[in-house]
Amino acid sequence: MSTVTAKAAREHRITIPSLVARKSRGERISMLTAYDFTFASIFDAADIDILLVGDSLGNVVQGQDTTLPVTLDEIVYHTRLVARGSRRATVVSDMPFGSYQISAEDAVRNTIRCVKDGGAHAVKLEGGEAIAATIERIVAAEVPVMAHVGLTPQSVHRMGGHRVQGRDEAGRSRVIRDAQAVEAAGAFSVVLEGVPEDLAREITQLLTIPTIGIGAGIHCDGQVLVMHDMLGLTDWTPSFVKQYANLGALASQAARNFAEEVTNSKFPDARHSYR
Ligand code: KIV
Repeated sequence: MSTVTAKAAREHRITIPSLVARKSRGERISMLTAYDFTFASIFDAADIDILLVGDSLGNVVQGQDTTLPVTLDEIVYHTRLVARGSRRATVVSDMPFGSYQISAEDAVRNTIRCVKDGGAHAVKLEGGEAIAATIERIVAAEVPVMAHVGLTPQSVHRMGGHRVQGRDEAGRSRVIRDAQAVEAAGAFSVVLEGVPEDLAREITQLLTIPTIGIGAGIHCDGQVLVMHDMLGLTDWTPSFVKQYANLGALASQAARNFAEEVTNSKFPDARHSYR
């Protein structure tokens, strides 16, 4: 392959149909959250398939207790930064609380903003049967939808906390019905969050669209993690998170070294000064 062809291949954008087609070939999908240009560029170059501008930015970027205060303007802003850093990955905007619950018309308008102003290729919405009609309307407006069922953080108050869903028979049937409803409504994929592994396996077998798991075990068609969790940038992580690096400790040590060298007049030395 010539260098030019190799470069073109490397820059080839992952499309929504190509993500859906992976399921029948048994090819897994990797997704990470990203909120800015720098990390989007790093993850994109590392061949992550989907960059999710998650409303988890409320927790890990803004320091809020829940994702509920995140606004549409903030999601559009962060989507723009991530889209600028991505050449290959599909960029998905997470629709914040209040941006799609009021009416389908409002939801369509807000998802179109993420595409037009943010540069997103798709949007993600939490909820199952209750928002299936809204998903249909958004898809009809040519905005691809990733659904999100099981533990839906925007329902934190109804659920009484971030609790695993689908542990009993009634809960199990509810999550299955939700997953089937969003597929029937035209979602191209669905995030399964906080459900038992065997339920995630059953749903993954029932659906023709890919399932992307978080705290849902190994049997999903893809996996997603919040970048701050997997990079070790948070104080506490749920037990399903695997830390692939400890950037928090590295950053802390680097800051300590800098402070010490400033205190001791060691920085800047001759090599780091203009002559
Ligand atoms: O907001 C987010 O980061 C998410 C993922 C955890 C799926 O919704």
